[in-house]
Amino acid sequence: MNRLLVLTGGGDCPGLNAVIRAIVKRASQEKDWEIVGSIESFNGVLKDPAEVVILDESKVAGILVQGGTIIGTTNKGGPFAYPVQNPNDGTWTTIDRSDEMLRRLQYMDIKGVINIGGDGSLRISKALADKGLNVINVPKTIDNDLSSTDYTFGFQTAVQIATEAVDKLVTTAASHNRVFILEVMGRDAGWIALNAAIAGGADICLIPEIPYEVENLKAKIETRYRKGRGFCIIVVAEGAVNSKGKKVGAVSNEVGYENFMLGGIGWTLKQELIAAGVRHDIRVTLLGHLQRGGTPIAYDRVLASEFGVAAFELAYKGLWGNMVAYRHPDVVAVPFEEALKEPHLVSPDSRLVLTAKGLGMEFGD
Ligand code: F6P
Repeated sequence: MNRLLVLTGGGDCPGLNAVIRAIVKRASQEKDWEIVGSIESFNGVLKDPAEVVILDESKVAGILVQGGTIIGTTNKGGPFAYPVQNPNDGTWTTIDRSDEMLRRLQYMDIKGVINIGGDGSLRISKALADKGLNVINVPKTIDNDLSSTDYTFGFQTAVQIATEAVDKLVTTAASHNRVFILEVMGRDAGWIALNAAIAGGADICLIPEIPYEVENLKAKIETRYRKGRGFCIIVVAEGAVNSKGKKVGAVSNEVGYENFMLGGIGWTLKQELIAAGVRHDIRVTLLGHLQRGGTPIAYDRVLASEFGVAAFELAYKGLWGNMVAYRHPDVVAVPFEEALKEPHLVSPDSRLVLTAKGLGMEFGD
């Protein structure tokens, strides 16, 4: 029996279940292959007793359209930094359990792992591959910031949700002559903001890759009110920065959570605009995790299914140490070293930014 372990790591995103389903359905066409899911990423293997589940066709029936992940996920811990609590004083620390985990996988007779995750999961996979584990990665994130792939699945769904939010804000903004700031996710990449701003016809788009000057934003807002009545829609990426360059967010106090928690630039921007003398009503909407929940749109179901089938086929052929990637029109295998290169960010002179500028959109630069 060839047994593959499948896991989902990092923040969830629409399409995870579609990948799991594709792996299971493709594997079922081969003799003697079994798919096992580890609950909450690698943590399932490290639990006592292990939390793993056999994934057969009956388990994946109907999950194509479901958001989230049927095997759970986590963006804390992992085999190299597993959180443990000191029973005496309640304090937390992390320990390296990677060698123990490899022994556990051997004991479970796991031939290889398909790790569905973002950049953090990719780094863990690479480190485990360096220790001899057979691993394939599938790129997931709504942020679309992974190197080597045109798109990650989940991204287009997030863009759709953000665009629908812009559409809704336009009607209320127009009714009240207001300035609306919509803050969207994306970490250090402006892909969600830029695409939603273009699709929704926003007036201003602020992304991490293009620092903004608030005076330029004020000037754009005033042109929108030139005829007396008016309104203005601003889409701001959570990682956007003004020309002073400081990101808005907080250090997490959750055990094992290492990322800086971005969020709140929308409120900061409102204060900056008021301080610059903007006198129109300003309202802020923070879209947050609504961008990650719910049903994947058709595009992401297709991409996730392509990735799942391709990932199984790489494992079947023993082509370990690769991430599946979409390079239009193909799905290809990219070695971990290459996939881990610099993140995929919006280039300020890219076609998409020039398109937005051609539409009169202001970036504040
Ligand atoms: O990476 C995906 C993402 O949704 C980012 O856009 C966002 O900054 C972050 O995860 C939020 O993480 P969490 O779910 O831990 O709050």
